[in-house]
Amino acid sequence: MIEIVNVSVAFDGQPVLEKVDFTLSRGEFVYLVGQTGAGKSSLMRLLYFDLAPTNGRIRVAGYDSLTIKPKEIPYLRRKLGVVFQDFKLLEDRSVYDNVAFTLHVTDAKRAELKKRVLHSLAEVGLSHKRNQMPHELSGGEQQRVVIARALINEPSLLLADEPTGNLDPTSSAEIMELLLKINMRGTAILMATHNYDLVKRYPARVVQLKEGKLTDVELKQVQ
Ligand SMILES: Nc1ncnc2c1ncn2[C@@H]1O[C@H](COP(=O)(O)OP(=O)(O)OP(=O)(O)O)[C@@H](O)[C@H]1O
Ligand SMILES: [Mg+2]
Repeated sequence: MIEIVNVSVAFDGQPVLEKVDFTLSRGEFVYLVGQTGAGKSSLMRLLYFDLAPTNGRIRVAGYDSLTIKPKEIPYLRRKLGVVFQDFKLLEDRSVYDNVAFTLHVTDAKRAELKKRVLHSLAEVGLSHKRNQMPHELSGGEQQRVVIARALINEPSLLLADEPTGNLDPTSSAEIMELLLKINMRGTAILMATHNYDLVKRYPARVVQLKEGKLTDVELKQVQ
């Protein structure tokens, strides 16, 4: 699903990732941890080809950084779901329209569109809120709308960058339960997080970024 080989990234000559190797298999759930500024978001950006590596090779969902053409990048992104910490809902549109938004862009047929939006909203347990506006929802509900939007193309890989970063412990746990349910249905998930309590409560493989290097770590080493 993801293969990163010998990847380095530098900003203005400052190295952020150095010779990183990483593989994530189909259907796997992996936490990405590391201090602020360690490069977690940069690694995520590499994976949806929003950032090009200074060196090395990245393969994601059948696309290869060495051979991908710029016009193919939107097709790659349709195979991925991406969830950010800062929710980025469109404030002037309903929950339904926020989820439908990406599909309008991809020209899905109307009936098909409605079916998929309602299915996605049901998946995150928010069908009954479909006509509300974002400001009428709690933070946790807003994040679930973002997840519904990320699921609309039935991605085989979900990238979640601090999906619980702005949430209280109860809402964070709800988001985790939701992500694990999505993972159980076969979607691979890479989740960047600072929340070690969540990592301990919902154990899975953990990789850590430190001083530019990415390594697998034992759960008990996570603190
Ligand atoms: N576009 C950019 N231009 C220059 N420097 C950047 C850019 N993006 C990130 N950086 C730098 O790269 C380093 C890694 O940033 P990144 O956002 O990937 O860290 P992070 O692990 O996601 O941190 P956080 O936990 O705070 O989200 C930081 O030092 C940051 O200042
Ligand atoms: Mg970040």
